[in-house]
Amino acid sequence: MKVLRTRAELEQLDAWRGAAPLVLVPTMGALHQGHLSLVRLGAELGPVVVTIFVNPTQFGPSEDFDAYPRTLEADLDLLRPLGVKAVFVPEVSEVYGPADGPAQVTVQPGARAAGLCGGDRPGHFAGVLTVVAKLFGMTRPDVAVFGRKDAQQCLVIRQMVEDLHMPVRLVDGPTMREEDGLAMSSRNRYLEGPKRQQALCLVRSLRRAEEMLAAGVRERAVLRQAMLDVLAESDQAEYAEIRGVPDLQEDATLSGMTLLAVAARVGPARLIDNLVLDIQPDGIEPGHLLGPGKDI
Ligand code: PAJ
Repeated sequence: MKVLRTRAELEQLDAWRGAAPLVLVPTMGALHQGHLSLVRLGAELGPVVVTIFVNPTQFGPSEDFDAYPRTLEADLDLLRPLGVKAVFVPEVSEVYGPADGPAQVTVQPGARAAGLCGGDRPGHFAGVLTVVAKLFGMTRPDVAVFGRKDAQQCLVIRQMVEDLHMPVRLVDGPTMREEDGLAMSSRNRYLEGPKRQQALCLVRSLRRAEEMLAAGVRERAVLRQAMLDVLAESDQAEYAEIRGVPDLQEDATLSGMTLLAVAARVGPARLIDNLVLDIQPDGIEPGHLLGPGKDI
């Protein structure tokens, strides 16, 4: 497994271009089984390149950029047994140029960045899109894998790829959870003692709505309120939303591919979770956001 640090070294990726699609799995490190599941999914499609880069431009001024966990050696140990071909670990200046350089091109998101995680975090999705576009430009993957855990991120990236006609195929992997249902997240490291238990209210709020949908409830307001009632066990509920996929619109009727999404603060952590469901008149099925992985 090669550890590459500069753009010049990325030339070495050419060794894996050709027969099978080159697969990119972008991460900010502090890897857990959720990230590794994306690597395993990617490895079924072709040679995998993982990027580890804590991207400063997607953190707001009061967010945890400096405190974000950086665990490179442990991350590399987790990736080695998975057959990853290369890990790209650039410095900020390698990606963004010198700090005193001229203002750079950025990518502004479309309508899907409004609300949910875009509402309270101005500039967040522009930061995500800008770095993802840079990573695509630097590594030139055929396929990129993202986690459904960050559902809005998946859909905002999908719109960038479609609108800017980027030649990359997107695949989304399912959310990996701890045994008790908590969605895995690098930020779960911030949860101590009873806060860990309290954090379960996110997944419980989603499951509550899922049960109601399975029982035939289709009123958005009733479902949202049920989610908020459970989310009230957090320290501060941020949102509980039901949106259409892929445009994240608030449809009058709940049918087809649908996102149930929640965000809340628990102790020092801002946590998010969601379920993607295909809602039909006679029942619900698990859904997806980008494309089924095996279809390529
Ligand atoms: P990061 O939070 O490190 O996540 C990297 C990838 O792992 C994302 O696609 C995310 O959706 C996925 N992921 C996180 N938790 C997961 C879980 N429990 N199950 C499955 N997948 C999970 O998301 C980012 O980094 C950044 O915004 C990035 C796209 C790298 C751009 O900087």
